[in-house]
Amino acid sequence: MNTKPQKILVTGGCGFIGSNFVRYWLEHHSNDHVVVYDKLTYAGRRENLQDLWSNPRLTFVQGDIADQATVREACVGHQINLIVNFAAETHVDQSILGPLVFTDTNVRGTHVLLEVARELGLRLHHISTDEVYGHIAAGHQSAETDPLAPRSPYAASKAAADQLVQAYFITYGLPVTITRGANNVGPYQHPEKAVPLFATNALRGEALPVYGDGLQQRDYAHVLDHCTGIETVLLRGQPGEVYNVGTGEEMTNLEMVNIVLRELGGDPGLVRHVQDRPGHDRRYSMNVNRLRALGWTPQYHPRDAVAHAARWYAQNRWWWEPIREGTFREYYERQYGQRLAERSS
Ligand code: NAD
Ligand code: DAU
Repeated sequence: MNTKPQKILVTGGCGFIGSNFVRYWLEHHSNDHVVVYDKLTYAGRRENLQDLWSNPRLTFVQGDIADQATVREACVGHQINLIVNFAAETHVDQSILGPLVFTDTNVRGTHVLLEVARELGLRLHHISTDEVYGHIAAGHQSAETDPLAPRSPYAASKAAADQLVQAYFITYGLPVTITRGANNVGPYQHPEKAVPLFATNALRGEALPVYGDGLQQRDYAHVLDHCTGIETVLLRGQPGEVYNVGTGEEMTNLEMVNIVLRELGGDPGLVRHVQDRPGHDRRYSMNVNRLRALGWTPQYHPRDAVAHAARWYAQNRWWWEPIREGTFREYYERQYGQRLAERSS
């Protein structure tokens, strides 16, 4: 699609969405080079791109986005002209257990990328989330111009990053764009997140811990639709603008759980309603007309996206079984041990 070859620094490219984006981009932009810049936290895995490391158009640099010298060196050394920032601490539950690292990476890290982009004259595209809008009352869909009202440490750190990105456009004229994604599902999502957790628990015959009544509403969007949304903004987006990326349709968490169980032939008796997440946002919903006006259309209905994701976990035990054996066990015990012991229904 692009005629001028790009050298893209994809931060967080070993995570869930970043790795799907790198795979998509290399396949559809045959002149471009991608440099994955990733700290490899518990959420980052080189095996997410194991089929691609021999590609001469893909390079890996291990580093922290909050480390200015290393980011600068990677950009200069690889003659980068575009940064796409996926790197973040991303899980709301983890942000409740240990919030400070969310500020270090999501706020300071994004700020460092902006500074390097400003010094070297680079374009920066920032990946944000529907969570910055906070709980959305029934009947409303968030527009990009709505005020930000984040309610978890994760969401607050992402909102702060968005505001820094917009400030750099206003103050310095830096060519920036932002996309705000809905709840993504698909291959390579860490099993701490709801759909992979429920799918892998169902496959192991273990309880599915649904927070509260399970009637919270989310737009479960397929990660590939997110990737094409970002691509659309990179090719046709306006500098300084924000674009929502989702399907515009929500379902309850219980509906999502039922799709997972149906798809995997799991026992509905495995569902447990457990103590709710503190400050749990009841509903997210976004209007995606601004992105549709650029010619983008999502290919997956949320029902199909969830079913497709569940099947992937059934077919790719090699990927998630080792993750669930490691430090994940301690996290699982801390997050769910008491919850599951307290309540079983
Ligand atoms: P993820 O947790 O799967 O991956 C995050 C990646 O960032 C990992 O590879 C990790 O090693 C890397 N990373 C973390 N801290 C870093 C640091 N300081 N320096 C360099 N690398 C670092 O996350 P994801 O679900 O793929 O999310 C990617 C982006 O999309 C995030 O910005 C997130 O806020 C946003 N987002 C996610 C969703 C979703 O549903 N997953 C929806 C909307 C927006
Ligand atoms: O909305 C976009 C956001 O989606 C992204 O910005 C985040 O990076 C991404 O992680 C995701 O947010 P959460 O961290 O809230 O996703 P999670 O999969 O944990 O939760 C989805 C819903 O499922 C939410 O309403 C909480 C619920 N849930 C989650 C878990 C882990 C449960 O009911 N039980 C669970 O055990």
